[in-house]
Amino acid sequence: MKFVVTAGPTREPIDPVRYLSNRSSGKMGYAIAEAAFEERHEVVLISGPVCLPPPPLNLLRVSTSDEMFDAVHAAVRDCDVLVMCAAVADYKPAQVTTSKMKKRDEKFSLELVPARDILQSLPRDRDFFVAGFAAETNDIERNAREKLRHKNCNMIIANDVSDSAIGMESDNNAVTIFFEYGAPKSIACAPKNVIARQLVKIICETAQKTFDKKNLRMNDS
Ligand code: C5P
Repeated sequence: MKFVVTAGPTREPIDPVRYLSNRSSGKMGYAIAEAAFEERHEVVLISGPVCLPPPPLNLLRVSTSDEMFDAVHAAVRDCDVLVMCAAVADYKPAQVTTSKMKKRDEKFSLELVPARDILQSLPRDRDFFVAGFAAETNDIERNAREKLRHKNCNMIIANDVSDSAIGMESDNNAVTIFFEYGAPKSIACAPKNVIARQLVKIICETAQKTFDKKNLRMNDS
C-alpha cells in the first residue's frame, strides 16, 4: 500500500525568533513510517521539526501547520493510507510580527486563532483510509470516539499522555485503537517500534476490510 505518515510537532511563528509548539518528539510517527517501509509499503513521511535521524525513505520536512496542511493535501492525491500522527497545532498567533517583539515589563496577551484542522479538511468521500491519533490526559474513550466521528477518521489511536512513562517524549507507548465498527483493541506498554509494527498490521487489515466493503457497495449500486 501507499502510506502517508505525519510526525512531530508544528511551529507557529510569533515573530522572527519565537514560535508556539508542543512536546511531540516525532518518535511514534517515525517508528510507524519505518515499520511500514520494512513491510515493503511505499511511504512518504511528512515531518515537523524533530531531532531524529532521517530514515531511508521519502521524507518531506515542514514547519508550520499551514505547510503540513499543504503537504498532506498534495500527498493524499496518491495514497491508500494516511496516518496523522503529527501533533499539529490547534491554535496559531493571529498576527506574526516582522520584527522581533520587544521585552515589556507589563503583562500582555497574545491573540490566537484556530489552526486549520487537516483531518477535518479531508474530503468525506475519498478512496484512502485515515488513521488519526488522540493524545489525551483524561476521558480517553469519550474523547477518542468524539474525534473518530468529528474528524471523520476510519480509526483513532488513543494514548494517555498524562502518564510520563508513555506518550509524547518517551521511547515507550501504550495505545487503545477505536474503530468505526467493532470493539476497541489495546496494545500494552512496549517500545514505540514494537507498537508501530502492530499498528501497521492492524491498519493494513482494517484498511483492506474498508476497501472491500466500499467495493461491495459500489458493485451493488
Ligand atoms: O484535536 P486534536 O489535536 O487532539 O486531534 C488529534 C488528531 O488530529 C491527530 O491525528 C492530529 O494529527 C490531527 N490534527 C489535524 N490538524 C490539526 C490538529 C490536529 O489534522 N490542526
